[in-house]
Amino acid sequence: MKKTGMPSPAQDKKPEPAHQPETPTSLDRIEKQSWKPGNVLSPVPVVLVSCGGSGEFRANLITIAWTGSVCSDPPMLSIAVRPERHSHGIIKSTGEFVVNLPSLAQVKITDWCGMVSGSKVDKFAESGLTAAPATTVGCPIILECPVNIECRVTQRLELGSHDLFLAEVVAVQVSSHLLDELGKFRVEKAGLIAYGLGHYFPLGPAIDHFGFSIRKKSPKPRR
Ligand SMILES: Cc1cc2nc3c(=O)[nH]c(=O)nc-3n(C[C@H](O)[C@H](O)[C@H](O)COP(=O)(O)O)c2cc1C
Repeated sequence: MKKTGMPSPAQDKKPEPAHQPETPTSLDRIEKQSWKPGNVLSPVPVVLVSCGGSGEFRANLITIAWTGSVCSDPPMLSIAVRPERHSHGIIKSTGEFVVNLPSLAQVKITDWCGMVSGSKVDKFAESGLTAAPATTVGCPIILECPVNIECRVTQRLELGSHDLFLAEVVAVQVSSHLLDELGKFRVEKAGLIAYGLGHYFPLGPAIDHFGFSIRKKSPKPRR
């Protein structure tokens, strides 16, 4: 362990009591169960995807948990959508959507948008969310969401139950009140939420930053 510079567990920061995992105290107490294959990857982001809003398509919202960044240059992400969703037809036809990151304030609406279909309900009107213009795509962003990621579809892969829309990120909007005086986005102030195995979770405080495990301690200033 020492050779790689990996900190020993004893050196790791201790999480707050509320976030302490339930872990057996010794390795020989860890038992495993074998489950059938399934989607247990957790936690994942849960997002509100907006689509439509022009031509024949009324603006719509769909809750998506199966989304992820897939490429940094060009910036790309994916969303997995069942073909029977109303939003699927809209995104397939228009080739555009916006991934809106909801905060705690929108968790109930996020769940609701995943329970009702835009084929029957005007989700923007009924939720009270504000549809604001995007900068590059024809569908609206959700004004209340702290981050809006405008996307243009590049590929649709038929995987089975879901189609995977691969999309290029063509613009990003963030709420200015979450920027500090240096213009840095204070993600911890956005109140973002996660989803795991059927439940919604708030994000706790940051533990440390990217690369902290190999960060050299700055020498104490000499007096
Ligand atoms: C937490 C949550 C996550 C969901 N994730 C997905 C998903 O990744 N892909 C998908 O096709 N449907 C997903 N759904 C289901 C759709 O959001 C739901 O069927 C929605 O009503 C479809 O809306 P639409 O018919 O207006 O497109 C999710 C629902 C919830 C509540």
